[in-house]
Amino acid sequence: MAFTVAIDGPAASGKGTIARAVAARFGFGHLDTGLLYRATGRRMLDGEDPLEAARNLRAEDLQRSDLRGGDVAQAASRVAVDSAVRAALLDFQRAFARRGGGAVLDGRDIGTVICPDADVKLFITASDEVRAARRHAELSAAGEDVTLAAVLADLKQRDTRDAARATAPMKPAADAVLIDTSAMGIEDAVAAAVAEVSRRLETVR
Ligand code: CDP
Repeated sequence: MAFTVAIDGPAASGKGTIARAVAARFGFGHLDTGLLYRATGRRMLDGEDPLEAARNLRAEDLQRSDLRGGDVAQAASRVAVDSAVRAALLDFQRAFARRGGGAVLDGRDIGTVICPDADVKLFITASDEVRAARRHAELSAAGEDVTLAAVLADLKQRDTRDAARATAPMKPAADAVLIDTSAMGIEDAVAAAVAEVSRRLETVR
């Protein structure tokens, strides 16, 4: 049975952690769609045309170890403005969403564009300061030498670009459940998401 959970939200809101935990809890597949844009942005930084890169993405591109840095995040957000790049990545995401056994996709436009008929739609937010502190801790732990102020500036710049673009802007779907994780530990945020999915599963089973 196909069952799709769409999880959207701004950078470092906790959506990736929640998506992974929901997928593990229910045995669903998980696709971090940000990786598709990061891998495309990475190949652009390496000198390739972004549309060619998006059209020719391979599984290995998503497994590269150099996709998490701030430079790649900015490149991802820049290539993500291009409607042709987004179109090139659409079929893969929709096919993943329909796979048997359930799927969780996290990104910016999953509930609005990729899976408008998703069974569950969540939009995860947190304050700018909380998100910047989380991302700064992640990047520092990964060995990147970056200040909290620079991380905050990067998040704000990407959020503005992601929300303002003409094609598939970041925004909550009209029927999305909003979860603000500013004052929540990750366990509580995951529990809130799991409760939404459980409630919906009961109605379809
Ligand atoms: O991890 P973080 O939230 O910082 O970023 P990400 O989810 O890896 O996404 C990186 C960039 O890809 C975002 O800033 C967006 O510009 C773009 N993106 C998008 O446009 N649509 C998606 N479904 C996922 C990511």
